[in-house]
Amino acid sequence: MRRGAFSLLSLLLFSYESAAVKLSIQRPVVSQRPKAATNANNNLINKGNERYTANITISGRVVNVALDTGSTDLWVMPPDNLPSFNDTHLNATIFYGDGTDYVQGEVGVGVFQLDTYSIPFQAFLYVQNASVDEQPDFDDGIFGLWGLGFDTPGSSEVNDAVQGAYGTSATWGQSVLANIFQENPTGDDYIGISLSRNGDTGGTADASLTIAEYDSDYAAVANSPKIPQNPLNSGAWTVTLDSISVGGKAIDWPSTMEQAPAGKNIVVLDTGTTNVMMPAEQVAAIYSSIPGAAFSPNLDQSIPPTKFSTTTGVWVLPCNASVNVVATFGGQPFPIHPLDMSDMQVVTSPDGRRNYTMCIGTFTDVGTIVNGVSDALFGDSFMRNAYTVFNFGTGGNSKGDPFVQMLSQTDATKATADATSVRSALMANMPPEISPIELVKIFNGSEPSGDTGAPAQGSGRSGSGNGALSLVPSLSLICAVALAFLAFF
Ligand SMILES: *[C@@H]1O[C@H](CO)[C@@H](O)[C@H](O)[C@H]1NC(C)=O
Ligand SMILES: *[C@@H]1O[C@H](CO)[C@@H](O)[C@H](O)[C@H]1NC(C)=O
Ligand SMILES: *[C@@H]1O[C@H](CO)[C@@H](O)[C@H](O)[C@H]1NC(C)=O
Ligand SMILES: *[C@@H]1O[C@H](CO)[C@@H](O)[C@H](O)[C@H]1NC(C)=O
Ligand SMILES: *[C@@H]1O[C@H](CO)[C@@H](O)[C@H](O)[C@H]1NC(C)=O
Ligand SMILES: *[C@@H]1O[C@H](CO)[C@@H](O)[C@H](O)[C@H]1NC(C)=O
Ligand SMILES: *[C@@H]1O[C@H](CO)[C@@H](O)[C@H](O)[C@H]1NC(C)=O
Repeated sequence: MRRGAFSLLSLLLFSYESAAVKLSIQRPVVSQRPKAATNANNNLINKGNERYTANITISGRVVNVALDTGSTDLWVMPPDNLPSFNDTHLNATIFYGDGTDYVQGEVGVGVFQLDTYSIPFQAFLYVQNASVDEQPDFDDGIFGLWGLGFDTPGSSEVNDAVQGAYGTSATWGQSVLANIFQENPTGDDYIGISLSRNGDTGGTADASLTIAEYDSDYAAVANSPKIPQNPLNSGAWTVTLDSISVGGKAIDWPSTMEQAPAGKNIVVLDTGTTNVMMPAEQVAAIYSSIPGAAFSPNLDQSIPPTKFSTTTGVWVLPCNASVNVVATFGGQPFPIHPLDMSDMQVVTSPDGRRNYTMCIGTFTDVGTIVNGVSDALFGDSFMRNAYTVFNFGTGGNSKGDPFVQMLSQTDATKATADATSVRSALMANMPPEISPIELVKIFNGSEPSGDTGAPAQGSGRSGSGNGALSLVPSLSLICAVALAFLAFF
């Protein structure tokens, strides 16, 4: 379940020429599923901690696509089109998030390849029209989405279109995963996902996707408790969250889901959501407990809101705050790395006179987008902290109800030390950070910038920008870390 950004950029439209071969349905040649993928080490690409992508090959064209456990369909919109394209002329539109984000096109069929996996005849949506929400991903070189969710009825626009036209025996409209699993009916049907963390010097997991096998670095996940899908057959990777605590104290969070056990919640484990999205009240319960943190409704967005958030409101935290947040699933604690709790940015004051470094909360208001499905979206900010196995329960020895298994990847003590050293090193080379409450006052216009904090570099020049915002790209942050560490030795 993805969220769109507040973007005013224009649509990326292109006129596509398709070879439009008239489709004749043939029984695909089934190749035996290989025993192991070639190389699980970092076979995923981490795009600035915001998207995790893979280079897939579809109809002979390599396309970088985002991985999304929150949806099911595969769609592509490569700028250089597909070299050849079997067009079914079936139209489909897929909506994401609150429904303003969509992609629209025709169902095509082609060869899908990733590593040693190959599906000779795979349906996908060949997108001709995408909403503006997609533009940031296109700008980032991401030209598609690979859904890793369920094939249950209603979950897949592509499958619904194909089955509507060709009948339920047309398995080529199923999801990529269902078709890969079908190539080996006796094997277990699961995937394993590890997400890396940029800017983490304390040792980060690599980013990997494996199908029907574990990444050998995290094979111990086999011993983790099985956390059943709840509600069963929800069509999404919904699971029960036992609790989420801050500073050792569980926050109060009444569930909106009748299937949630007493005192617990239901969340979607969603690689396609950048951050964690939960009700504003619970976000506040977490951040308000951090000494020095301050909230701004930020209605004029003078502080750039957390990317992909549904609201303008931001929590500003001390950048080196040692935030101790732990999510508990299946009775197991999953500490969340402090680096996953806030994003660092450099922002110019509305009067243009000063630059400040500030850290804003990554947990944001979920709004109404998961109503009736779950209480929250646990996206990448959470998922970086666990190796997760998603078992569909459709094959092999684990045939039964779907479940997940998670292996914690974050040692709370080490993570706190890591976060403090990373942030301190970065701040040594960045504009000053002042107290969050002062920052909020400066950015909401109730205080001028010059009266607080040390002057920023270059502040001697007269202010030119009028509330102009400057974001330091993550690359320069990484360079700043490298420089800072060099300075230590
Ligand atoms: C993905 O493709 C890009 C562009 O061709 C390449 O630079 C990158 O190394 C590839 N990454 C992986 C993990 O396949
Ligand atoms: C799909 O949309 C195109 C363009 O809007 C239209 O010409 C075509 O008839 C539609 N196909 C189907 C099967 O509805
Ligand atoms: C298109 O379909 C035809 C007939 O099924 C097949 O021979 C051909 O390989 C397909 N082309 C692509 C690009 O999938
Ligand atoms: C794209 O989709 C929108 C919403 O359905 C529609 O209004 C618009 O005409 C479409 N544009 C094209 C070029 O198909
Ligand atoms: C955090 O940063 C502030 C300055 O912004 C500094 O005074 C404080 O000592 C730092 N705390 C830690 C734990 O590094
Ligand atoms: C703020 O930072 C930007 C980008 O580094 C820089 O161009 C600008 O001069 C800075 N402004 C002040 C007032 O320091
Ligand atoms: C600005 O923020 C401060 C601190 O939250 C608050 O007291 C003040 O009322 C706000 N002023 C405006 C104009 O929003």
